[in-house]
Amino acid sequence: MKKLVVVTGGTGFIGSHTAVELMEAGYDVLIIDDLSNSRIEVLDGIERITGRKPLFEKFDLCDRVKVTECFKKYTGIAAIIHFAAHKAVPESMDKPLMYYENNLLSLINLLRAMKEYGVKYFVFSSSCTVYGQPDTLPVTEKSPIKKAASPYGNTKQISEEIIQDVVSAGDPIQAISLRYFNPIGAHPTAYIGELPIGIPLNLVPYLTQTAIGIREELQVFGDDYNTPDGSAIRDYINVVDLSRAHVVSIDRLLAGKNKSALEIFNLGTGNGLSVFEIINSFEKATGIKVKYQVVGRREGDIEKVWADTSLANNELGWKAVIPLEETLRSAWKWEQYIRQENNG
Ligand code: WQD
Repeated sequence: MKKLVVVTGGTGFIGSHTAVELMEAGYDVLIIDDLSNSRIEVLDGIERITGRKPLFEKFDLCDRVKVTECFKKYTGIAAIIHFAAHKAVPESMDKPLMYYENNLLSLINLLRAMKEYGVKYFVFSSSCTVYGQPDTLPVTEKSPIKKAASPYGNTKQISEEIIQDVVSAGDPIQAISLRYFNPIGAHPTAYIGELPIGIPLNLVPYLTQTAIGIREELQVFGDDYNTPDGSAIRDYINVVDLSRAHVVSIDRLLAGKNKSALEIFNLGTGNGLSVFEIINSFEKATGIKVKYQVVGRREGDIEKVWADTSLANNELGWKAVIPLEETLRSAWKWEQYIRQENNG
């Protein structure tokens, strides 16, 4: 009997890749998604890769009744990975209440149902945004949590505090919070990938849309940072590497190998790369020239951040291994695939 793992937000970018890795590791998957920021066709992509379609329930996790009904219907849930959240930093500045209500109420409803229905294991999708601009680099899990630069980042900080308070209260939940750096790339089959709706906020999807001609040119937000080439530095991690860390976390919890009721891990490569380095690597990896223009800094951006990944490497036994150029080629292959699908 395969163990059933619930993946909320599982038709999203990281959720869909994690569903694939879970299914390929022998788990059954139930995806819960309200499709507010993703498409149902992602389920077909998952099926094309794995040969199986995951179970799927469409509802809003802020609806407590629907959450309860789902836990009543699926009695054998082994664990939950919670991705479902709004995650656009600029949008969160415009609509803070939408972000606090959606991201916190969905978490609270899930934790409440887990307690009520005896589901013990929980993996939470967190973010390096909780660190703000670290004072020292690389940033470790013990680095100070800075005041969040956005309501989005604050919902991640508050969510981790809620989980900590729940496990401290003695609820039988065992949790792992994974702090992502910058997820990029796509599944090597190109059957799933990042599907930004509207104008992409993130660097790599905007870059691939520029390369394919949808966007006129890429805007580089600032070249006057205190970095070697002046552009901002981030820790870009392949989405498949990132997804595999979730499977390792589920395995760890189900085997009772976690060392505390809430463990926190940074998920990055440990290498910082600048915007210009990403552009140059993309051009080298694909042979495609990217038109760009340097403009002013983007409000809310930090200058540089990259992860100390030793805790995840040593404790989880996980390491990001997919090379950057392979990752950028996968992003390009995905961009070409979805354009062909949309024009087909
Ligand atoms: C990366 C770099 C931009 C677009 C995001 C999420 C955050 C977290 C981490 C999930 C920055 C520059 C970007 C463009 C550019 N993920 N850039 N031109 O801001 O580091 O954070 O990933 O929790 O929630 O927001 O990622 O890809 O937007 O930017 O120059 O068109 O690329 O200034 O230096 P960011 P990003």
